[in-house]
Amino acid sequence: MTIALCPGSFDPATNGHLDIIRRASDQFETVIVGVLHNPAKAPTFTTEERIEMLKASLDGIADVISFEGLTVDACKTVGATVLVRGLRTVSDFDGEEQMAQMNARLGVDTAFFSCEPAFAFISASLIKEVVRYGGSVAGLVSPFVEKRLIESLAGKTARK
Ligand code: PNS
Repeated sequence: MTIALCPGSFDPATNGHLDIIRRASDQFETVIVGVLHNPAKAPTFTTEERIEMLKASLDGIADVISFEGLTVDACKTVGATVLVRGLRTVSDFDGEEQMAQMNARLGVDTAFFSCEPAFAFISASLIKEVVRYGGSVAGLVSPFVEKRLIESLAGKTARK
C-alpha cells in the first residue's frame, strides 16, 4: 500500500490544490495532506484554520495533518514513501525541481501532477488579494473556503 504525502502551506487551499489531491487519491491508496506549521512565515490563517478548511473541502478523500520541520521527517512519521506536488506553469518548475531533488537526496521521491489548465492562474496569495478588494473568487476555492476568506479578509485593506 503506497502512502503519499501532499505537503504545502494551504493558506488557504484553492481548487487547484483540491484537484491535485483528488487526482493523487486516484493513483495512491492513501493520500495525506501535510500542512506546514511555520509561525515564522506569518500565514493569514492559523494551522488549525487551514486544516479545518481542507477537511471541509475534501469530503474525506484524504487525511489532513500538520507538520513542522522537514517534509521528509513528516513522511517517516506517517509512513509515506512518495511526495505529491502540483505544477501550474513552467515557472513553478525550477523551485519544485530543486525541492524534489533535495527531498530525493533525503530519501523521498516526488510525483508531480500537472495542474488542470482552468486552475493554472490561481495562487493562494492572488485569491486573498481579490477577496480583500471585494472581488469574487467563486469557483476558484470551495464554498467553505470562500466563506472563511470573506469573513477574514473582505474590506480589510491596508490604511493609507
Ligand atoms: O505550498 P507551498 O508554500 O509551496 O509549500 C512549500 C513546502 C511546505 C512544501 C516547503 O516549504 C517544505 O517542504 N517545507 C518544509 C521544510 C523542508 O522540508 N525543506 C526542505 C525541502 S527541499
